[in-house]
Amino acid sequence: MKAVFYEQHGAPEVLQVGVRPTPELQDHEVLVEVVATSVNPIDRRLRSGELQEYITRTFPVVPGWDLAGRIVEVGTKVIHWQVGDEILGLAFTWSIQHGSYAEYCPIDAASITQKPASISFEQAAALPLVSLTAWQALSEFGQLQAGQSVFIQAGAGGVGSVAIPMAKHLGAKVYTTTSAKNRDYVKSLGADVVIDYTAEDYESVLRQHEPNGVDLVLEALLGNGTAEAAIRLTKDGGRVAYMNNEPPEMDDIEQRNITAEFLHHRPDGEMLAALVDLYQSGKIILPKVQVRPLEEAMDAHLESEAGHTQGKVVLRIS
Ligand SMILES: NC(=O)c1ccc[n+]([C@@H]2O[C@H](COP(=O)([O-])OP(=O)(O)OC[C@H]3O[C@@H](n4cnc5c(N)ncnc54)[C@H](OP(=O)(O)O)[C@@H]3O)[C@@H](O)[C@H]2O)c1
Repeated sequence: MKAVFYEQHGAPEVLQVGVRPTPELQDHEVLVEVVATSVNPIDRRLRSGELQEYITRTFPVVPGWDLAGRIVEVGTKVIHWQVGDEILGLAFTWSIQHGSYAEYCPIDAASITQKPASISFEQAAALPLVSLTAWQALSEFGQLQAGQSVFIQAGAGGVGSVAIPMAKHLGAKVYTTTSAKNRDYVKSLGADVVIDYTAEDYESVLRQHEPNGVDLVLEALLGNGTAEAAIRLTKDGGRVAYMNNEPPEMDDIEQRNITAEFLHHRPDGEMLAALVDLYQSGKIILPKVQVRPLEEAMDAHLESEAGHTQGKVVLRIS
C-alpha cells in the first residue's frame, strides 16, 4: 500500500513516500481504506523523537491518528460494523507503527463512528482528535455551563477552531487569542472577545473584561509563562485544562480551589458520534480545512511546525 513513513526520528525530511505492507488486523479492529487523514502537532512531535517515555515506536513508523474512509475488513470480535461502511475515527495507540498517513489503517472498532453523507471525507478526517480533545476539556473536565466564561488560547488552530463553537454551543462567553490575520476567522466561529496576542498583552486585556477571572481556561500553548497566567486568569473555584504540560507549581491553585490538570485526549466512538451529530445539524460550525495530497506530508509538517496554520491541514490519500 502507499504510505508516508519514517525509519528514524528527525526533521520533516525523514518522512518518505513509498510502499509498505498492508497492516494485519486484530480481533477488535476494522481495517479502513483511508480517504483522508489530518495533521496534528503530535504527529510531528512523535516524528521528531519527543515523548518516547509515553509512546513507543516500531520502525518504520507510519504517522497519523485521524482518519476518514471505508471499512474493507472486520475483525472477528467486531459486531456492529460491515465492509463498505463509511466512517471516521481516532486511531490512537500508545505504541505507534500503523498510522493513518496510508492507504490502509487498522483502528479499534470502539474508536469509530459513521461518516454522514453530508460531511466530506476531507472534512471528516479533520474532526476526531481535535473534537474529542476540545469536548473532553470543555464539557467533561471543564463542566462548562451556559452563562459561564472560557478563555481558549490559540483560537485559530485545530483545537481552538472546534473548541470555540463548542463553547458557544454550551452557552459560554468565549475569549480567545489570535494574530490579526485570524481575527475574522475566530469571530466567524463565534468568539465574543478576540485578543491579538501580537499587539496586546492578553492577560491585561482579559483581566479588564473579567476582573475576577474566567470559569475555565483551555491552555494550549507551551512556555513563556502562559501556564502561570492561566492560573492567574481563572476565578476562585475555576478550572484549567492544560493541553501540553502538567500544571505549574503554584500555591494559588490550592489556595483558590482551582482544579488544574494536564488532559490527554481519549478515543471514544460514542462521544465522537454525538459530536458528529452536532456538526451535521449545524449546531457546531465545522473547522476550516486546507487539503493537500498525501505526498505533501513533509510540507504539511513544516507548515505545522511553523505554528500558524488556520483550522486543520488535511492529507488526501485516495
Ligand atoms: N493533550 C492533548 O490531548 C492535545 C490534543 C490536541 C492538541 N494538543 C496540543 O494543543 C496545542 C494546540 O493544538 P492545535 O492542533 O490547535 O495546534 P495548531 O493547529 O498547530 O495551532 C496553530 C495555531 O496556533 C496559533 N498560535 C500560535 N502561537 C500563538 C500564540 N502565542 N498565541 C495564540 N495563538 C497562537 C496560530 O494562530 P496565529 O497564526 O494567529 O498565530 C495557529 O492558528 C498543540 O500544542 C498540541 O500539541 C494537545
